[in-house]
Amino acid sequence: MVTINDNYLKLKAGYLFPEIARRVSAFAEENPDAQIIKLGIGDVTEPLPAACRTAMIKATEAMGQRETFHGYGPEQGYLWLREKVARLDFQARGCDIDPSEIFISDGSKCDCGNILDIFGKDNKIAVTDPVYPVYVDTNVMAGHTGPADETGKYEGLVYLPISADNNFTAELPTEKVDLIYLCFPNNPTGAVATKDHLKDWVDYAKANGALILFDAAYEAFITDSEIPHSIYEIEGAKDCAIEFRSFSKNAGFTGTRCALTVVPKGLAGKASDGSDIEIWRLWNRRQSTKFNGVSYIVQRGAEAVYSPEGQAQTRDLVEFYLENARIIRNELTEVGMSVYGGVNAPYVWVQAPNGLSSWDFFDKLLYNCHVVGTPGSGFGAAGEGYFRISAFNSRANVEAAMQRIAAKF
Ligand code: MLT
Repeated sequence: MVTINDNYLKLKAGYLFPEIARRVSAFAEENPDAQIIKLGIGDVTEPLPAACRTAMIKATEAMGQRETFHGYGPEQGYLWLREKVARLDFQARGCDIDPSEIFISDGSKCDCGNILDIFGKDNKIAVTDPVYPVYVDTNVMAGHTGPADETGKYEGLVYLPISADNNFTAELPTEKVDLIYLCFPNNPTGAVATKDHLKDWVDYAKANGALILFDAAYEAFITDSEIPHSIYEIEGAKDCAIEFRSFSKNAGFTGTRCALTVVPKGLAGKASDGSDIEIWRLWNRRQSTKFNGVSYIVQRGAEAVYSPEGQAQTRDLVEFYLENARIIRNELTEVGMSVYGGVNAPYVWVQAPNGLSSWDFFDKLLYNCHVVGTPGSGFGAAGEGYFRISAFNSRANVEAAMQRIAAKF
C-alpha cells in the first residue's frame, strides 16, 4: 500500500479556521434561526473596487479575441504588474526593489508554505507565540519539527513569546536561529513594529547568517507614518529578508487571488557542500516548475490597484475596515475588556473577560451572542486567554455584534 507523509499525523486537530467553521456549523444546525455574525476568519466582505472590476472586465473581453488572447503567462507574473509593484509599493518608500525580484502568486499563505521547498531540513526555525498557524503547520508538514507537547508546542521550533509586556514584539532569540518568521502588522495581535525593532532583527539576521520571512500582508492598514510598511525600509534587509504581500485585504482579493513575494537577488543560502547559492534562482526554479502563474484577468485587476482610482478606492476600503476596528475597540473597552491592536491592523486582540479560556469565550460568544471570533489559543500556547476579533465585515454586522456583546457582558 502507498505510504503517507507521517508528518501530517503530528498536526494538531484541524487547521484553526476549518475547526471554527465546524463548530459554527454544528451550532447553526442546532439553532437554525440564529443570525450568526462572523468576525472570525479574516475574510473580506466588501465588493471589489470599481477600478479592479473594470480592468478585469476589459481583460475578459480581450481574452475573447484571437488578437488579444493570452495563454500561459510568465510564471513570475506579467512585467507590467511587477513594474508597478516595484515602483509604487517599494521604490516610492525608498526600497531598492527591482521588478525582477518580484514574484506574482495566488496567495501569501501559499507562498509562506511553499517557500520551505527551497530550504534545507536542518534550519533552526523561530516563530512568535502566538503566531499565524500557517508558519508552524507548514514546517510540521515539511518534517522540520518533532511532535507537539501537551501545550501544542512542536519540538525543534524556537517559540518567541509576545504579549502586552513586550508590545507584542518578540525579543531576539538567545540561541542561534536560521529562519525567522515575522508578521507586521501582526496577525493575530494587530501589533506593529517600529523601525528600531525591525533593525534589531535585520542586525541579528546579518550577524547570524539567518533569513527573515517577513509577512506584510496587512501593511495597507498602517496608519502611523513612523511605522515601516516593508522590511526593506531597513538598511541591510535586502541581504537577509524575503517579503510576502497580498492583494487580499487591501483590494478585497481573497476570492480573486493575487499576491506577491519579493526575493532579492543576491540573497544566498548554503548548499550541503558549503557553497553559497542564490535563493532567487531556487525560488524561480521552484515556481516555474510547480506554479502556472496567476491568470491574465486577475493580474489586470491587481494592476488597476495602482491606478489613481484604484489607489483611492483601496484606501477607502482599508479605511472602512479600520473604522470597524475602531468601533470594536471602543465598544469592548466600554464593557471593560482589555483590547490591543486594531489601530494599524484589521485585527483586535482581546483579553477574554473573567479569566475565561479562549475556547470558553468562543463558546460564550457563539451561544449567547451568536458572534464568532477566533480563540487566541488557536494561534499558540501564549494566546490562551485571548481572542481575536476581525474587523472584516459590514458596518451593520459589526455594530450589531458589538451591541449583542455589550448586552451580555
Ligand atoms: C486569518 O483569519 O488569519 C486569515 O484568514 C489569514 C489568511 O488570510 O490566510
